[in-house]
Amino acid sequence: MTTVSRQIVLRSRPVGMPKPGDFELVESPLPSPKDGEVLCRTVYLSLDPYMRGRISGARSYAQSVEPGQVIVGGTVGEVLESRHAGLGRGDFVLGYDGWQSHAVSKGAGLRRLDLKQAPISTALGVLGMPGMTAYVGLLDIGRPRAGETVVVSAASGAVGSAVGQIAKIKGARAVGVAGSQDKCDYVVRELGFDACVNYKKGDLLGALRDACPKGIDVYFENVGGDVLRAVMQLLNQNARIPLCGLISEYNATDITPGPNLRPLLFNRALIQGFIVSDHMARMGEFLADCGGWLREGRLKHREDIVVGLEKAPEAFIGLLQGKNFGKLLVRVGEDPTR
Ligand SMILES: NC(=O)c1ccc[n+]([C@@H]2O[C@H](COP(=O)([O-])OP(=O)(O)OC[C@H]3O[C@@H](n4cnc5c(N)ncnc54)[C@H](OP(=O)(O)O)[C@@H]3O)[C@@H](O)[C@H]2O)c1
Repeated sequence: MTTVSRQIVLRSRPVGMPKPGDFELVESPLPSPKDGEVLCRTVYLSLDPYMRGRISGARSYAQSVEPGQVIVGGTVGEVLESRHAGLGRGDFVLGYDGWQSHAVSKGAGLRRLDLKQAPISTALGVLGMPGMTAYVGLLDIGRPRAGETVVVSAASGAVGSAVGQIAKIKGARAVGVAGSQDKCDYVVRELGFDACVNYKKGDLLGALRDACPKGIDVYFENVGGDVLRAVMQLLNQNARIPLCGLISEYNATDITPGPNLRPLLFNRALIQGFIVSDHMARMGEFLADCGGWLREGRLKHREDIVVGLEKAPEAFIGLLQGKNFGKLLVRVGEDPTR
């Protein structure tokens, strides 16, 4: 067994779009678990847009990563050594070990994965934080009713793909917005959305109007900017906007000009920001519903898997440029379950 852990640390805080030189690969001796702890090797590392906020140092809802520290992130790992009564060698667990090949963590904070329920990687995607974000944001804030029109941006991604499919399961019409024709084709043909608009093709407002002839009742917001501006002009009375993310602004060095808020006023629309970690009480219902829909083939998902911890910075930068197609994961170590 190896005696070192490979880690990617933040070398310097990025200004604007992160660069590979903002990250550094280092090694440190393999830690040993104390009472109540386990040593895991990372199998999958999740790369997510929120990590841009963590490495920025800006005031946020969560603590920043400091230069020299390992970058945070959700992981699926295999237990190599356990001093926690509930976990044993060979168990696969969902944890938060970050951008590193091995780590010691408290056993109490880990969830053992049931290999019979779903592939282990789904615990970071469709049955993990992104899937749960889609579930609570859409059902609790968006509250789609049968026959209504739900629009979601970043529609081929981890959150957006689940939003549209859950909207369909609830009887609504689902319209995606995505950044390429390939992504739009996937969203309609594979995921079963009713329509998808490529926002890079021009005349976004016209294309959205054609795709939403009865206007927009729910807009699940993932990107901000031009897409939000166009959607605002098509809102129906009493529309709801779960404000999930604003990825088009994550690298901005100035505050970006906001959309005109008048349509919210005269349509009595609701816009509500939310953070998935405030909704953990819904975990049981989420896993029961989405796990069931996944096994029945009603909730499909796509993974974009990059191999090798050293590829994480480049893959993360690609995520902020729309280069990922599906839930972005890094396979840090061998997955013996596949
Ligand atoms: N509130 C919460 O608790 C919570 C939790 C999880 C995620 N989120 C948010 O949910 C959103 C989606 O996250 P995800 O994990 O599902 O990521 P994802 O959609 O799998 O990947 C990010 C996608 O965003 C799009 N994008 C990137 N830069 C963009 C830009 N400048 N303008 C417009 N679109 C851009 C790209 O798709 P296209 O090629 O289609 O543009 C890219 O593939 C993010 O805003 C994230 O911060 C929020």
